[in-house]
Amino acid sequence: MSETAKIELDGKIYELPVFVGTENEKAIDISKLRDLTGYVTLDTGYKNTGATKSAITFLDGEEGILHYRGYSIEQLAEKAAFIEVAYLLIYGNLPNKEELHAFRQSICKHTLVHEDMKQFFEAYPSKAHPMGVLSSMVASLATFYPESLDPNRSPEAKNLTIHRLLAKLPTLAAWSYKNLTRHPFMYPRNEYDYCKNFLYMMFAMPTEEYQVDPVVVDAFNKLLILHADHEQNCSTSTVRIVGSSNANLYSSVSAGISALWGPLHGGANQEVIEMLERIHADGGNVDKWVAKAKDKEDPFRLMGFGHRVYKNFDPRAKIIKKACDDILDKLGVNDPLLDIAKKLEKVALEDEYFKARNLYPNVDFYSGIIYKALGIPTEMFTVMFAIGRLPGWIAQWKEMTENKEPIGRPRQIYTGQTNRQYVPVEER
Ligand code: SDX
Repeated sequence: MSETAKIELDGKIYELPVFVGTENEKAIDISKLRDLTGYVTLDTGYKNTGATKSAITFLDGEEGILHYRGYSIEQLAEKAAFIEVAYLLIYGNLPNKEELHAFRQSICKHTLVHEDMKQFFEAYPSKAHPMGVLSSMVASLATFYPESLDPNRSPEAKNLTIHRLLAKLPTLAAWSYKNLTRHPFMYPRNEYDYCKNFLYMMFAMPTEEYQVDPVVVDAFNKLLILHADHEQNCSTSTVRIVGSSNANLYSSVSAGISALWGPLHGGANQEVIEMLERIHADGGNVDKWVAKAKDKEDPFRLMGFGHRVYKNFDPRAKIIKKACDDILDKLGVNDPLLDIAKKLEKVALEDEYFKARNLYPNVDFYSGIIYKALGIPTEMFTVMFAIGRLPGWIAQWKEMTENKEPIGRPRQIYTGQTNRQYVPVEER
C-alpha cells in the first residue's frame, strides 16, 4: 500500500502522507495541502472527506458492516441492554457488573428536570412538533447547570453533565409528547430501567396503574441500540462541529437534534410511515410510487431508501425488518403498511434504477412500523431516534474534546462578483 500520495500541480510533484486505520480504511492526509500548494480540496457534502479519526464506530458501506467499539451491531442488538451500549460507546468498554450498577444508579439520580422547565412547555402551541420542543429544552439545560458551560472544567464535571443529559432526555422527550396530547406529565420512577421508565412516562396516566409490556420494552431496547451511533453522519458531525467551538454538551446535542429532524436524515422515519399511509390510501399500487421515485420531474423520493455510506443492505434495516414480523406477531398487530413496505422493497430492489444506484432500505424504512406497533405516535418517531442516538452524540463530543481537536472551520471557493465599486444613490 502506498505510504504517500503524489499529486502534480502546476508542474510540481507533491507528496502527501497516507493514513491507514485499524480496519484498513485509507486516507490521504491533506492537512498541509494549502501550505504546500496553495490549493484546497472541494467536496460538497463531504462525500469523500474524513473529518476526524475516531475509535467509536466502524461501518463498511460496501459490506454492510456496523461495529460499536469493535462489537458487531448484531451481537449488541441481540444480547445487550441499551444502557450497557451507551456506556460502551461513551467510555470505550462494556461495563462490568459493578460499573453497570453504578452507571444505572447515577442515571436514576438525575432523571428529574428542574420544575421551572415545566413552565416552558406551556408556552408552546398545542400542536408543537416534539423535535422542536426537545431541541430547545436540551439547549435550556445549560441555563440550569452553569458549571456545564466550560466543557473542560474537570473530568468529574464533564461526567456529571453526561449523566445528567442521558438521564433527562427521556423525561423531556416523554413530556414533549404529553405536551402534544395535553395529558398530565408523568414523573420518572427510579425502580424502572431506562427503556421501561421512558415508556411509563410516555403512556402512563395518574388515574390508573400502567403495566409496561415486556415485549414492548425489549423491542424499544433493540431499536435504541440500533440507532445509538453511526460515525460521522449529519447530526453527529453537527454535534462535533458545534462542540469544537468549546460549546457545552447541551448546546452541541441540541444542534444535533435539530440536524436529525431533517427529512433526509432522522426525520425520514416519520416520512416513511406518512409515505406508506399515502400509498395505502392510494390503493397500495407500489409500482406507481416506485415510478414516481424514479421520475426526475417528480420531487417524490422513496423515503427510507438509499444511504450516503451503505451501498449494500443497512445491517440495521435487516435486523429491524426481522424484528418487525416477530414483534407485530407477539403484539397481535396486523399492519397493512408492513405488507406495503415489503412489496415496495421487493419492487425497488428488482428495479434497475435502484440497483444501479445501490439504493437499499435504510434504518428508517422499517423502524416506523415497529414504533407504530408499540403505540408511539408518528410525530414522536424522530424523538425515538434522538433518544437512541444520544450516547453516540455524547461519545463523539467527548472524544472530540478529549482529543483537543481544533475548531471546525472548512474552507470554500468563492464564485461571486469581484471588484465592484460602491456608487452612492443619495447624499449622506
Ligand atoms: C439516516 O449518514 C448516516 O449515517 C445517516 C443515518 C444515521 O444512522 O445517522 O443512517 C440515518 O439519515 C438514513 C437516511 C434517511 N433518509 C432517507 O431515507 C431519505 C431518502 N434517501 C435519500 O434522500 C438519500 O438516499 C440520502 C439522503 C439518504 C443519501 O443521499 P446522497 O448520498 O446525497 O445520494 P444522492 O441524493 O446524491 O442520490 C444518488 C442518486 C440520485 O440519483 P441521480 O442524480 O444519480 O440520478 O440516487 C437517487 C438520487 O436521486 N436517490 C434516490 C433516493 N435516494 C437517492 N432516488 C429515489 N429515492 C431515494 N430515496
